[in-house]
Amino acid sequence: MEQPIKDAPRETSIENFIKLKPPSIPEGFNGSFTECGFDPSKYSDSLFSQLDIPIPVQIAGSVTKRKAEFLAGRYCAKAALSELGYFHTPVAIGHNRCPAWPAGISGSISHSENRAVCVVSRNFQGVGIDITHKIPGKIISEINTSILNKNEEDICKSYADPTQDGVTLIFSMKEALFKALYPQVKKYFDFLDVEVVAIDPKKQKIQLRLIRDLSEKLGAGTEFIGSYWKTGECFYSLLEYGPR
Ligand SMILES: CC(C)(COP(=O)(O)OP(=O)(O)OC[C@H]1O[C@@H](n2cnc3c(N)ncnc32)[C@H](O)[C@@H]1OP(=O)(O)O)[C@@H](O)C(=O)NCCC(=O)NCCS
Repeated sequence: MEQPIKDAPRETSIENFIKLKPPSIPEGFNGSFTECGFDPSKYSDSLFSQLDIPIPVQIAGSVTKRKAEFLAGRYCAKAALSELGYFHTPVAIGHNRCPAWPAGISGSISHSENRAVCVVSRNFQGVGIDITHKIPGKIISEINTSILNKNEEDICKSYADPTQDGVTLIFSMKEALFKALYPQVKKYFDFLDVEVVAIDPKKQKIQLRLIRDLSEKLGAGTEFIGSYWKTGECFYSLLEYGPR
């Protein structure tokens, strides 16, 4: 369901609000990846129509920050889909906020502070992308035990960077895995339902394993390998699941 946009009093130009960036993704991803920088303080409602992106009812009444990040994510999705030949294909909000991609396409969106990214691919049953700015130490100590089990804490300690980088990294990779699997699993699962079994800082890969059955096809013991990289204080995690 879409509804007309009520313009905020202020208007800004597209160029002030958002710019596509050269994608930071490492080579070898079999799909399309787009990345942009955006300035939430330059957001105005008219940007949705200027960018030809429908504003869903769920977003129209949201605070400015939420509207700005949603728009930035959909802008990246529009650019990524057009690389695959989908030029006028709005991405609606699906079940539990999961983006509704065109049939035969899997994709994922993430935003953090003033960045947004999107991946889409024809070649996997699921892809997940996450960007997360380094989590401050105070928050780490509050969330640590709901994100990591004891084995993962040990892996974090042996990780080359200080502990909080390891926690941010694992948090981000688990969010990417969640987004990749959600379209199959169709329900929420917990951070502690998945365990990181190894981090390879040289290859920038993380190996993860399901600790419990999530669905008939995705049973306990199923393993995944995700890629990660970092630009400045921002961690990127990308995980592809199930080649088509
Ligand atoms: C959904 C979730 C992963 C989003 O992460 P976030 O840190 O809030 O924000 P991000 O910017 O990285 O990602 C948000 C985007 O994820 C996508 N997303 C949201 N729910 C989703 C779902 N159920 N399935 C797939 N993608 C989803 C959306 O595109 C969303 O952006 P949009 O609402 O603007 O379209 C997170 O909020 C959440 O609910 N986590 C709990 C489940 C979880 O992570 N379990 C860990 C299992 S190992």
